[in-house]
Order: sequence, then C-alpha cells, then structure tokens
Amino acid sequence: MAESVQGLHRSCRCAELSEANIGQTVTLMGWVQKRRNLGSLIFVDLRDRSGLMQILFDEKIVGSEGFARAGGVRSEYVLAVTGKVQKREAAVNEHLKTGSIELAADSIRILSESEVPPFPIEDGIKTRDELRLKYRYLDLRRPEMQKNLILRSQVTTLIRKYMTADGFLEIETPMLQKSTPEGARDYLVPSRIHPGSFYALPQSPQLFKQLLMVSGFDRYFQIARCFRDEDLRADRQPEFTQVDLEMSFVDMEDVIETTSRLLRSVFRDAIGVEVPDPIPRMTWQEAMERFGSDKPDTRFGMELVDVSDTVAGCGFGVFTSALASGGTVRGINVKGQGDMGRKKIDKLVELAKACGARGLAYIQYKSDGTVKSSFSKFISEEEMSALMKSMSAQAGDLLLFTADRFKTAVEVLGQIRLTLARELNLIPGHQFNFLWVVDFPAFEWSDEQNRFLAMHHPFTMPYEEDMDKLESGDLSSIRSKAYDIVLNGVELGGGSIRIHQDDIQERMFKALGFTLEEARDRFGFLLTAFEYGVPPHAGLAFGLDRMIMLMTGADSIRDVIAFPKVKDASDLMTQAPAPVDDRQLQELYLETLPAAQQKE
Ligand code: AMO
Ligand code: AMP
Repeated sequence: MAESVQGLHRSCRCAELSEANIGQTVTLMGWVQKRRNLGSLIFVDLRDRSGLMQILFDEKIVGSEGFARAGGVRSEYVLAVTGKVQKREAAVNEHLKTGSIELAADSIRILSESEVPPFPIEDGIKTRDELRLKYRYLDLRRPEMQKNLILRSQVTTLIRKYMTADGFLEIETPMLQKSTPEGARDYLVPSRIHPGSFYALPQSPQLFKQLLMVSGFDRYFQIARCFRDEDLRADRQPEFTQVDLEMSFVDMEDVIETTSRLLRSVFRDAIGVEVPDPIPRMTWQEAMERFGSDKPDTRFGMELVDVSDTVAGCGFGVFTSALASGGTVRGINVKGQGDMGRKKIDKLVELAKACGARGLAYIQYKSDGTVKSSFSKFISEEEMSALMKSMSAQAGDLLLFTADRFKTAVEVLGQIRLTLARELNLIPGHQFNFLWVVDFPAFEWSDEQNRFLAMHHPFTMPYEEDMDKLESGDLSSIRSKAYDIVLNGVELGGGSIRIHQDDIQERMFKALGFTLEEARDRFGFLLTAFEYGVPPHAGLAFGLDRMIMLMTGADSIRDVIAFPKVKDASDLMTQAPAPVDDRQLQELYLETLPAAQQKE
C-alpha cells in the first residue's frame, strides 16, 4: 500500500497483520471502535475494512502527550498510529483474526474527530432501517455491510474474468433510450433540446444487445444498470444491476450450458458452494402443478396434489362448480398440523383470499383420529375418506384445498405453502437449490388490459410445433423458448431464444394485437436492422443484486446495494426525488401539476 497522510505512510490494513509481523514497526490508520482506560494503560480497538487491531498506549512508550491524546479519543475518531507489533500478554481473543497480537503505540495522530454516531457501528444492531439509511455511510462501516459489498465486488470481478475468458465482449449500451412501453413503467428524462420529448432510462439493454448481435459481436455481456418504476419489494429496487448477456448462432442448450458454467464457477470461487452439474430442470407446467409457482422453492416438500378426479362427483358445490367451469381442485398436506387452532386456520383462509382465492377449504385430521372439515356437511363419509386417501393423509395432518381456475388454484396454494414453510421452519438453511424453469407460456392473459400480453417479451421465440396456434385465438397453450434460472424460490435470471425471422415476428405482433405500423413505430429500428442479415441469437440476464443477496443470506437486496431506495422509491439520505427550481423546469419546457390534480 502506498497511502500517506502528511508524511505518515499507512503500512497495511489492521487485520492484515499477524504473528508473522511481531517485532515490526508499522503505521495503521482507521476508526476507533472503542477505548478502555486502565490506569497507566489505554486500549483502543482500531477498525478498518479488514477488521480490528488492538492498540496499546503505554504512557512509558507513547509519552505523556501521546498518552493524553489517546485518552481523549472517542468512538469513530480517525487515527494514525505508529508502533510495534507484539504478542498479547493477556486477554488473547480467539474470535478475532488479530486476537493474539497488539500494536504497542509510540505515536498517535488524530486525523479527524467524530460526533457520537446515531447507532453503534457493529453487527446485529436493532436500529430502525430508516435511521440506518439516513446515515447510510455509517451503516456501511458496519462489518456485515462491508462484507456484503466486498463480496459484491469480488463477484463482479469473477464474472468479468470468466466471461472475457469465455470469449464475451463487454460493451456498454445507452442510458438515455427511446421509451418502448411494454413491461414495467419507464423512468423518463425530459429533453431540453427537443421540447416535449423524453428519453427513457433502460429497463434492460434488451434491444441494444440484440442489435449488437446484428453487428456481429456474437458474444456480448454487460454489468448493466436497469431502471423500472414498479412497486418495490424485498427483492426489487427501482434501479438494479443485471449481468446481461447475448449470444449468436446458439440454441437454448448453449445459453443454459454457458450460464450454468458461469454460475458454477462464480459460486465456487466466491463462496465455496458447489452448484450441481447439470442444474435440474423443470417445465413451467410442472413447476406450477407441483409447487404453485414459476419460481419454486424446492428446498422442502409439501407439494400440490390434483384432486379434481377424486372430488368430481362429490356433493360439495364449491368443488364441482369450479370443475364444471373448466377449473381445478388442488390440495396440500401440511404434515403434523392437524391440530392447528381455529384462529390460525382462519388466518390461512384470509391469506388465501388476499391472494385471490374465493376461499380455502380444509380438513383437519386430528392426532386423536377425529376429522373436522369446513365442508364435511356437504360430502359423504366415503367421499371424504377417498379425498383424504388421495392426499396420503395420516392422523395429525392438515389438508388445505382451493377450487378455481388453474392458475389461481395453484398459485394460492403455492403462496400458502411458502408462508407455512417459513412459519414452521421447514426450510433448511445453507442450501442452494438451483433450478432451470423452461417452456414458459408465450402469452399471459391480462384481466386488467383484457388482452394477451407477451409473458417474457414480444421477441421471444415460440416452439415450432405450437406456432400454428398463433392464429387460432387460443394463445394460452403456446409454449415459448424462454427459460428462468431460479435459486431457493427466487427468480435469479431469465432469458429466451429471440425471433430472428420477420414472418414469425409479424405473426407474433399480430397475435399481441399490434398492427405492423404500431410495431414499426415502437421497434422500427430493430425490425429494420433485422432486414440486413441477422444471426439466430439468444440471451439471458441475471439480477446481480438478487444473486449477492442469496450468496450473503441477506433478507433484502437493500443490504447488498451501497445506496438503495426505500419502498416509496425515495433515498432517505439525499432526499431524492425532490422538487427542482422553476428555472430548471422552464429550460425543459415543463410545468408540474399540483399533486391532487395528478391523482385524478
Ligand atoms: P427480466 O425482466 O426477467 O429479463 O430481468 C432479468 C433479471 O433481473 C432481475 N430484476 C430485478 N432485480 C432487482 N430489482 C428489480 N426491480 C428487478 N427486475 C428484474 C431479476 C430478473 O430475473 N432483457 C431480459 C433478459 C433477456 O431476455 O435476456 C430481462 O430484462 O433477477
Ligand atoms: P361456503 O359454502 O362459501 O361457506 O364455503 C364453504 C367452505 O369452502 C369454506 O371453508 C370456504 O372457505 C371454502 N371455499 C369457498 N370457495 C372456495 C374455493 N373456491 N376453493 C376452496 N375453498 C373454497
């Protein structure tokens, strides 16, 4: 290290010292973790990003002036200390990397003083998130936060190393783009030079990376910042980072194989986790059937069971009418919860309703062998026992059922499965279950817009054998060559084979309800580019923040982003977003409406 302050050179970081340095004179610079005065001795724990070092100030060595100065330091003062590394006489701390040594100071310089911090700079604090985020620069001094960002830096370095070794070129794409409304809401940037016109910040580099394939770069990657104006959750931020890649002359297997190898090498080198080879695969249909989710958490069981056939002729109208209108009846067996109290069951029913179900039917097979059910009065004893048998119920089990259209029925149980698994501690820690989910439906019905939308995006290739259904009106059964990589129930990344044939692209746009003119208006540059020799291509992007969150075991991607936003998309430290001067607005030919008017 070559740092120096007014002639003092920092020799190394605190926890880079070890017993091998005993006898050497070194200079450390860092923050005071704590100070203890013991008569003629003062101990200071000095902290930097590497860890702590105990500094011993002995009046006989450091002199009375230095001793007085050391006696006045408080937490978070910044010091430069020169002294000799020595073995600790007493109080060896086995939990500390540097616990067997200390620095016997012969001089101390106070580089800056500190106010009392609003919360302790240590791990495991119970401080409100709002306060931590307001003083984020202090929060980031805490070892657990430093560890997260250090790992993040190591991972991006590993990704760059791996990708470039594999023949990928890192190419930047613009931040100021044209808005192409599809997907999430855009963040807009007004143009000063073109009054009334706006750029959009990229939701992803999607169209540009496809253009780079047209240009012949054949393997592109980018660690790209993306912006989406959507409702935030623990695994969503308005700006986030994708590891984005695109490849030419490839099929689905090549992308899956390349990305699997990348994940395997990054997880091994960064955190010592072995990713299985091959990573298991499941179709979207199977994931929905078994787990009620397109991003199943496979670390525990409680899989969904289709009981439609069993209940087909039963006397319970809720079940039979769902079946009669083309729906389905599904169940889960919550092992060992047959004696669950009424209040808890009512909460599950509420949760089911909040997730969109009309209700949640249940059977309690109590541990004393008795059976209690929300629909026992509607079905015969034989029907009840057939249903319990098809759920492999044993005394002590709780059975929960939804009757609805397929997606609602399975997704609601999927949510309940996850909630119960968390509450009942069924999810093993320190396990990394990777899964490729493939063959997503190409289209998804939107009740809100009353039309089919592209599930991934409109440039995703449908399966050849399903393509004749593009004109049939029945778009829901068309599968696409889209794939997601899922880790522990979190969608880590997703991608697809792109359409590179203009006739298929036109049919796709038509099926989505755009005229060719509308498509040209939105994506004309891409369609024109494809007229000049486009290679078959495919790609994928993963969420870097989510990957680091899962690697570190953080609860939220907020803990792995240096300066994140909170739920309402504001930054509590800088107070962004904020109003701007009228002059700035005028330059942009903008006027704002009062908030009340905006809501209308
Ligand atoms: P997609 O929209 O699936 O695909 O995004 C890819 C991955 O980005 C992460 N991600 C997010 N992370 C944090 N906060 C968010 N708001 C957020 N939104 C998405 C997820 C997700 O899996 N262009 C395509 C990829 C392609 O087809 O190549 C795309 O953007 O981990
Ligand atoms: P009800 O006939 O509405 O009183 O419902 C009887 C039981 O069936 C209650 O336990 C409801 O929660 C449940 N139920 C109602 N609708 C559904 C549904 N679509 N799927 C599963 N259970 C339901």
